[in-house]
Amino acid sequence: MFEEQPQQLRQKVQQLATEAIESSQPSAWFEVLYADAGGDASQVPWAKLAPHPYLQDWLSLRQPEGQGHSALVIGCGLGDDAQALCELGFQVTAFDISPTAIAWCKRRFPDSTVNYAIADLLALPPQWQNTFDLVIESRNIQALPLDVRSQAIKSVGSMVAPMGTLLVIARFREQEAPPSGPPWPLSASELAQFSRLGLQEIQRVTFLEPEHPEIQQLRIEYHKR
Ligand SMILES: C[S@@+](CC[C@H](N)C(=O)[O-])C[C@H]1O[C@@H](n2cnc3c(N)ncnc32)[C@H](O)[C@@H]1O
Repeated sequence: MFEEQPQQLRQKVQQLATEAIESSQPSAWFEVLYADAGGDASQVPWAKLAPHPYLQDWLSLRQPEGQGHSALVIGCGLGDDAQALCELGFQVTAFDISPTAIAWCKRRFPDSTVNYAIADLLALPPQWQNTFDLVIESRNIQALPLDVRSQAIKSVGSMVAPMGTLLVIARFREQEAPPSGPPWPLSASELAQFSRLGLQEIQRVTFLEPEHPEIQQLRIEYHKR
């Protein structure tokens, strides 16, 4: 997520994240980063202005039927994953805690039928519980520190409709010991929380990018019973 950014931007992310965590507001720095970017996506480390390639790969593989189905994109950033699902016919809701990011999505995609909303993963609207046929969680849990991880995972799982699908894209760490971050990769015991929430693991794919073979990235598909 942060590996390709210039040193200066990396330092800024570290500083903003550290300050936010020290003030017990672990998500507060995202709005600062988006606002400071002033519309320049190169100042948003994770923004590639394209759907995440592991999501695109999954969509090609599974060819999910979008018509008549709902989808939710968590921490949607600049909106590319949401737009990709919209193009497949899903009725898409996409949310982010950053008002600037949501305004940016609406500017980029003025004719979009995606319902772009400002919302907090850690304080969700109750009407989203058990609602969405497909939920995309890409790299948001790992952007939150370990002390809110359990709550974040519970929130992610809670929005999947019965018989629905959850797709998680995240870094993985072999050790249970707390990692340094951000990002803070997920451990096996943290991932096990999804199955305790009634989400059955269907497929797990590990990706190792040639430039960073030390970073394990996972794409896990879950189905809710
Ligand atoms: C590392 S970025 C990942 C963006 C996108 N999902 C992707 O994979 O490219 C994390 C995103 O989550 C958003 N975010 C952070 N905390 C959040 C929260 N509590 N609720 C909703 N969104 C949050 C940030 O604003 C940011 O857009």
